[in-house]
Amino acid sequence: MGNVICVGGQWGDEGKGKMVDILSERCDMVVRFQGGNNAGHTLVVDGVRTVLHLIPSGVLHPKTTCVIASGVVIDPEVLLQEIDTLKSRDLMRDDSQLVISPLCHIIFPYHKKLDFARERALGKQMIGTTGRGIGPAYEDRVGRRGIRLFELINADRIANRLRDAALYANTILHALGSEPLTGYEIEGMIDRAVNHGKKLKPFMGNAQELIYDAMQNKKNILFEGAQGALLDLDHGTYPYVTSSHCVAGHAMAGSGVGFTSPYQVMMVTKAYATRVGSGPFMTELKDELGDLLRQRGSEFGATTGRPRRCGWLDLVALRYACRIHGTTQLAITKLDILAGMDKLQVCIAYEIDGKRTENFLWDSEKLNEVTPIYEEMPGFGELPLRGSFVDLPISAQNYLNKIVEFTGVPLGAVSLGPERGQEIWLHEPF
Ligand code: GDP
Ligand code: IMO
Ligand code: MG
Repeated sequence: MGNVICVGGQWGDEGKGKMVDILSERCDMVVRFQGGNNAGHTLVVDGVRTVLHLIPSGVLHPKTTCVIASGVVIDPEVLLQEIDTLKSRDLMRDDSQLVISPLCHIIFPYHKKLDFARERALGKQMIGTTGRGIGPAYEDRVGRRGIRLFELINADRIANRLRDAALYANTILHALGSEPLTGYEIEGMIDRAVNHGKKLKPFMGNAQELIYDAMQNKKNILFEGAQGALLDLDHGTYPYVTSSHCVAGHAMAGSGVGFTSPYQVMMVTKAYATRVGSGPFMTELKDELGDLLRQRGSEFGATTGRPRRCGWLDLVALRYACRIHGTTQLAITKLDILAGMDKLQVCIAYEIDGKRTENFLWDSEKLNEVTPIYEEMPGFGELPLRGSFVDLPISAQNYLNKIVEFTGVPLGAVSLGPERGQEIWLHEPF
């Protein structure tokens, strides 16, 4: 029995979906606790690719209950589409496999409009958001004017709430020089919201109680993070971050359950680094090497299809991520993408204002000025697809050991390909 929190150690897209899918086999419950459909989690099983944005990555295992907890913001259109797609593939046959907290805040069309309007107004300073309305929906939540899932069930209530919300959104859209919503659009939005409420009602359940009971009954529970440490609202490269807390510590607040039993934190990181959107990226490769990593690693966003920026592994940032998550074990993915490269570089310190530091910096402007100090490491040839650690070439073992040594966190798993089964386990968290 146990609880495992699986989180990203970089700027997202580390391969969390794959790790969660594998671990789910041993899980009774998988809980998403933050973010929304800005996330894109990819699972590959027998050559079939599944990309999930809201539904927890345990859904391919029929006996695993998937919970969307209150920390998640939901775009009902996207969620219903995701449910339909899974059902059309004969997955999620039983509706009771998915439980959604009625407390989840809802993303409405004006949130998406506001997201685009804000980005446009920022011009060159744009965040590079996914444009899914995530930030504006979380803003409404904090501003105590958000609309929650259970409110969709009551047609009169939702009509009133949405008319007020649209008025408010329109004043901001107007101020930002964007087209406000028309009366016709507002009424259409209300009709759709009522319809969404009807369709989602069967999935609503007391998520807090369900997770609490599972914990009391000593079930295996996996908490699935979205995004990554460096996109965390407070602890990431602010303001180039997402609008929720992606750190492992948020698993409790985002699911509404205080942990009463021990837990492990598995932090997933690629063997190199990527980032989608704007913001500092200290080890970015803006040359052919970066292009090579992008092409070999198929580094295109699972949500927006945007090309991901690519670079070398930044151990300074990774150690920082390990600490803010309270990481108990690492899962290092995409080692296979580095195979065949002559020499590898890992960033072991930053140079800033003529001084060397091994500490992460909290000012994004300063991070932009950093010159990374690299340690060169020999590359390695072809890798096996599975086996044990000692089956890896010595230079690959040394590369992994360097990460473990620098971060001070033991290695739990190494992923060697996108497919379920293409990995080596050193310590299984459950
Ligand atoms: P997530 O957001 O953290 O779940 O990651 P994404 O799914 O957005 O991006 C990770 C991508 O890498 C997906 O296309 C995965 O199928 C793929 N992937 C995961 N692990 C590995 C690996 O070890 N090797 C390779 N080649 N691909 C991997
Ligand atoms: P997963 O869970 C990678 C990035 C966006 C942008 C910033 C803010 O698949 O790892 P937002 O739309 O959240 O307001 O955008 O955060 N971003 C992600 N990058 N993977 C993700 O999720 C991301 N979710 C948001 O690109 O830079
Ligand atoms: Mg992703």
